[in-house]
Amino acid sequence: MTLDFDATPDRNAGAPRKRRWVKRLWLILGGVGLAVTLISCATNRAVFAPPQIPGATFVGSETCSQCHEAIVRDFKTATHSRLKAEGDNAVNVGCESCHGPGSLHNSSGGAAQTIINPRRSPETCFKCHLDKRAEFSLPYAHPVLDGPHGRPVSAGGKISCGDCHQPHHGPAVIGGGTALATEFDTCGRCHTAQRGPFVFEHEAIREGCTTCHKPHGSVNPRMLAERNANLCLKCHFQQQTTPGAIFIGGQDHTTRLNRGTCWSAGCHEAVHGSHIGSSLRF
Ligand code: HEC
Ligand code: HEC
Ligand code: HEC
Ligand code: HEC
Ligand code: HEC
Ligand code: HEC
Ligand code: HEC
Repeated sequence: MTLDFDATPDRNAGAPRKRRWVKRLWLILGGVGLAVTLISCATNRAVFAPPQIPGATFVGSETCSQCHEAIVRDFKTATHSRLKAEGDNAVNVGCESCHGPGSLHNSSGGAAQTIINPRRSPETCFKCHLDKRAEFSLPYAHPVLDGPHGRPVSAGGKISCGDCHQPHHGPAVIGGGTALATEFDTCGRCHTAQRGPFVFEHEAIREGCTTCHKPHGSVNPRMLAERNANLCLKCHFQQQTTPGAIFIGGQDHTTRLNRGTCWSAGCHEAVHGSHIGSSLRF
């Protein structure tokens, strides 16, 4: 039995997102019965072990609807609902591809400890999104990981994949990665200071926070996409009007550029927006 990923665009998901990774996934169910052994990816041949719960077997999403009716109903619109089981013994393992096999949870009448909740640990997401473990292990990352890479958190506790992604309905990247206002809201829910509103706005923010930040993790402080002036110069081009002189935004920056990053003390410290002036210095 196999689990196929149907890569046709979502009915609901606005503009199609670039498909960077898997086109098809197979969930191979080993032996007789429904003991899942492997998930493999056809495009790069990677093989993953699916979530397991000792003593539990896969029962299919329909059984979940007895008690979680609304989630099962709305799940049809979710990115991950396109993972479909096929074959003779097939059950639709949609819910269980993240929550693990549900037989014990069902027979116990819904005891929490009998099922995996990815809010407590990202391990179940990493089973298929292997590259994300590496991104969250970078020196500057959102505090999502458990164990040795877990970081001290001063701003309100550990966060989970589910704080920025929707597992149960609609596009998993909220807004489908195209609605920038939605990204703005997602990040701004926790980072109210950067969200504004400001008297003097920086138009760059309208392009979304991920214009400048890597949302999972980065080698650069503050999870920046670039560690130097290149972060800004991709929009604010340098103009060399006279030999040796560098102009940015109509201002002579010849000596300024070697004083540090554009957002160093005394320069454009208020990159997100300012209440004082349009030059975004304070
Ligand atoms: C017989 C009713 C019933 C069925 C069937 C059922 N659940 Fe539940 N489920 C519950 C109840 C009740 C809770 C709340 C448990 C609690 O808060 O202690 C729950 C909680 C959960 C939780 C959250 C656990 C946590 O850590 O708080 C998840 C995830 C879950 N169910 C997934 C599923 C999935 C997936 C299926 C289908 C395979 C399923 N449930 C089938 C009754 C059910
Ligand atoms: C892509 C992985 C994924 C799939 C597929 C998935 N879930 Fe979840 N589920 C999660 C995450 C993540 C959470 C924690 C949500 C949070 O952090 O608020 C969760 C939480 C839950 C909870 C706890 C209550 C709640 O709403 O937070 C229930 C119940 C649940 N899921 C049921 C289901 C059912 C039923 C299905 C299938 C229709 C399903 N899930 C499919 C990832 C998934
Ligand atoms: C059984 C494997 C599997 C599991 C487990 C899984 N995913 Fe996915 N996920 C996929 C596949 C396949 C896609 C579609 C990839 C594509 O469109 O190229 C996907 C897509 C996504 C996307 C959208 C990618 C895009 O470009 O639009 C996000 C975000 C995502 N997953 C997050 C999660 C999170 C968070 C969890 C854990 C709660 C999780 N996934 C668990 C297989 C999985
Ligand atoms: C702080 C918010 C945040 C958290 C936490 C987060 N993500 Fe994301 N993720 C995003 C945003 C924003 C995008 C879309 C922008 C982009 O493509 O860079 C994204 C894109 C993705 C994508 C699709 C594009 C890609 O990079 O492959 C996947 C898959 C994904 N995330 C998985 C995860 C998993 C798994 C976790 C938890 C281990 C997680 N994310 C936690 C914000 C977050
Ligand atoms: C659920 C709350 C939450 C959401 C949503 C969230 N963050 Fe964060 N963010 C945090 C926490 C917690 C930290 C770690 C703060 C610390 O370690 O002191 C953090 C750290 C950061 C930092 C580094 C701050 C520093 O001082 O080094 C940046 C940059 C950042 N987040 C950007 C984003 C962006 C961009 C998004 C949206 C894609 C986002 N965050 C969504 C909670 C969140
Ligand atoms: C034009 C590029 C740019 C955009 C767009 C941007 N940031 Fe930043 N952000 C920066 C820079 C540069 C820093 C580092 C400032 C410093 O170190 O003094 C930073 C720092 C941060 C910090 C650390 C605390 C601070 O203010 O220094 C957080 C949190 C943050 N950004 C969140 C966000 C959020 C949320 C969004 C979207 C609403 C966003 N950023 C959009 C460039 C940007
Ligand atoms: C996504 C494109 C983009 C990025 C990246 C970007 N900006 Fe901007 N910025 C703009 C736009 C658009 C304006 C408004 C039009 C203009 O003044 O050029 C603007 C305006 C400004 C202004 C106000 C100019 C004035 O006098 O009114 C300053 C200062 C500025 N940006 C600094 C920065 C710095 C510093 C960075 C890097 C941390 C940065 N920008 C990154 C697009 C961007």
